[in-house]
Order: sequence, then structure tokens, then C-alpha cells
Amino acid sequence: MLTARNLTKNYSNLHVLKGVSVTVSKGEIVTIVGSSGAGKSTLLHILGTLDTPSSGEIWLNDINLGLLTGNTLADFRNKHIGFIFQFHHLLPEFSALENVCIPGFIAGTRKSQVRERAAFLLETLGLANRMEHKPNQLSGGEQQRVAVARALINQPDIIMADEPTGNLDSKNARELHQLFIELRDKFQQTFVIVTHNEELAPLSDRQLVMKDGGIVGELV
Ligand SMILES: Nc1ncnc2c1ncn2[C@@H]1O[C@H](COP(=O)(O)OP(=O)(O)OP(=O)(O)O)[C@@H](O)[C@H]1O
Ligand SMILES: [Mg+2]
Repeated sequence: MLTARNLTKNYSNLHVLKGVSVTVSKGEIVTIVGSSGAGKSTLLHILGTLDTPSSGEIWLNDINLGLLTGNTLADFRNKHIGFIFQFHHLLPEFSALENVCIPGFIAGTRKSQVRERAAFLLETLGLANRMEHKPNQLSGGEQQRVAVARALINQPDIIMADEPTGNLDSKNARELHQLFIELRDKFQQTFVIVTHNEELAPLSDRQLVMKDGGIVGELV
């Protein structure tokens, strides 16, 4: 599904990624672990087209992501890649349901269909009676589940998550891990997850260990 070859990223003479290659298959949860500054977020952002590599190639299915620019890239990203971050980045003035709908509206999907899927996702994630709540009326765990529903709204090929449990207590973190595993098992959802969480990494299908801008090991 996702293949990256020989990615480098340089900031003037700082070599943040030094030739990283990664493949991710459909229905896999791949975690990326490693010490602070190793280049994990940089790699994830590049894999998700939020940032561009200095050199190297990324293919998602049969599309060479390096050839996409401007609106074509933004449109592709919105439809094919979902994101979850440490801080949920929900829009405070919109309800949970509206927050989940927004990427669907941007994709141009029929509004009634987007609302129906958003409600289905929120129900599936245990938020049936929280749909009209604004983010500040939700707990941290609930906010993060809304962010997961939002990432899923356009049925993305792959979800990129950067420290998705970094801001949660251990109970909520565990619930979110269970949710990722359910989404993989039920819907063959594919994930790449950067995490410091010592419980999540072993639950994943593969763990990539990063150090100093390279992948130094893989634990299966
Ligand atoms: N825009 C930038 N300009 C210059 N250097 C940068 C930039 N972004 C990241 N870096 C550097 O690249 C290195 C890797 O950063 P990155 O954010 O990928 O690390 P990380 O592995 O995600 O760390 P953490 O676990 O702390 O989140 C760091 O040394 C950082 O200072
Ligand atoms: Mg990081």
C-alpha cells in the first residue's frame, strides 16, 4: 500500500532523515518508536505529504506522491490520508458531529451521506450521546475519539498518527489502542503511529525503531 524509498530530509546542513525506506501493507498497524529528535515526526509528516522530502520517493498504492502539488495534493491528502495528532485540533466552535463532517464536506461528498457516516462513526466509537457537544464539553479521551472519527470520515487508505495517546491517561490510552486494533480487524484500516507508549508498540504488527534519522531496527 505505502512504499517509501530512501527518504532524506535536510535543514541546511542538519540531516534529519538519512535515507529511510518503509513499506506498509494494507490492514497493518506499524508503530515508529525512538528517542526524542530521532526524526519520527519528520518521517510521519513526509509520509503523510504534510512535508516534502529533500530526496526519495513515496508511493501510495500506484500514485507517486512527489508528483502531486497544490490543490491536487490537498485534495488527494484529504481523501486518502487521515491524521491524528497528540492534541486533537478540533474546531472549538463546532459540535463533535460537525467536526467529523468537515473533511467530508471538503471532499465534496453529498452532505446527507457525510452526516450519516459521521453519526455512524461516532456511534461506533461510543459517542452516540455526545454528538452535539462542543470539544470543550468533552473529556480528553472523548475528544481524541472524535479526532479518530474525523480521520476516518473519508475512508482513508492510511491513517498517520503522531503521539495520539501522548495527552491521555493510561486508561484512555489503552481504550484508544483497543480502538485502533478493532478498526484494523473490522475494516482492515491501515495505521502508521509514532508513539512513546510502551503498551501500544508491542500491540502493533511491526515496530520500526528510529535513531539519528535512520531506521535501526524492526521488531515484529
Ligand atoms: N523545521 C525544522 N527546521 C530545523 N530543524 C528541524 C525542523 N523540524 C525538525 N527539526 C529537527 O529535526 C530533528 C528531528 O525532529 P522530529 O520532530 O522529527 O523528532 P521526533 O523524533 O519526532 O522527536 P520527539 O519524540 O521529541 O517528537 C530534531 O533535531 C529537530 O530539531
Ligand atoms: Mg515528534
